[in-house]
Amino acid sequence: TKKMILDLDTGIDDALALALAVEDPRVDLIGIISSYGNTLIETAGQNSLDLLHLLQADDVPVYLGENHSSTTQSFETMPISMAIHGDNGIGNIELEPATKPIETQSGVQFLIEAAHEYGYDLIYLPTGPLTNLAAAIRQDPTVAELIGQTTLMGGALTVPGNVTPFTEANINQDPEAADYVFTHQKNITMVGLDVTLRTLLTKEHTKAWRELGTLAGTQYADMMDYYIDAYDTLDIDHRGAALHDPLAVAVSIDPNYVTTIDLNLRVTYDRESGDYGRTIGDKQRLLDSTTTKVAVNVDNERFVRDFQDFMLDILKN
Ligand code: BDR
Ligand code: CA
Repeated sequence: TKKMILDLDTGIDDALALALAVEDPRVDLIGIISSYGNTLIETAGQNSLDLLHLLQADDVPVYLGENHSSTTQSFETMPISMAIHGDNGIGNIELEPATKPIETQSGVQFLIEAAHEYGYDLIYLPTGPLTNLAAAIRQDPTVAELIGQTTLMGGALTVPGNVTPFTEANINQDPEAADYVFTHQKNITMVGLDVTLRTLLTKEHTKAWRELGTLAGTQYADMMDYYIDAYDTLDIDHRGAALHDPLAVAVSIDPNYVTTIDLNLRVTYDRESGDYGRTIGDKQRLLDSTTTKVAVNVDNERFVRDFQDFMLDILKN
């Protein structure tokens, strides 16, 4: 089985990604790196620990990554993120605190060591900013070749962004890091808004989680309903809420959920350019062999059905 590292800004849809990675027998989740974005890094880390505890997966270690972007000195959560994910990142639901602390080793160091240890067998899966991977490659350039597969949630190629018409939230947190990753890292699959906005979950689905009568079922349903309500009241989508981060996990395990195109990408990071944070084909590398597969279409029916089956399975205990 492949080894997986999640890099999460935990976040409600990140919490769903975590559940899939814990449950799927085709991957072995060896650790979670915490990032900033939907919430502050410490909150994201604690959320991951508490969610693992809820899912009886306390053995998975949680590390802290970089706590702000590579070009800023600090990070503050955007009001829109709090509106979508709640003040605590997980819909203001109170989870039972995990008994285990966050690891003392840095997340970036953990990633570098895992790249050397597992190489081709390692799936690195960021569902937040790309700051930690960029930092890892800067410290140890061999990481770019070593990691077998990087499947990321982020970016928007064929649809508008969700922060500005050009940029998606995860890329927007650290466009410099994202550009560094797209121009250095091998074997990337980008699962962006092009596909994630087409995979929607509704309260019909969460009702079935609740009906399991378990604590995990109730708390995951409460979290997800908060997120579905936010999509509705903020006019993001009235049909349901996007399964951004869990789709990336599913694609990393079964690429057939999506169709992709091969590209070399760049990210615009010139603040004056007007398209700050845009994921766009790299004009200088049009003739080079490609490093990135960009998902542009998704079998959303199959994915949402499988996702629901997985969730019912993990939440039943
Ligand atoms: C991405 O931004 C975050 O708010 C979500 O968790 C997801 O990773 C969607 O743009
Ligand atoms: Ca996320």
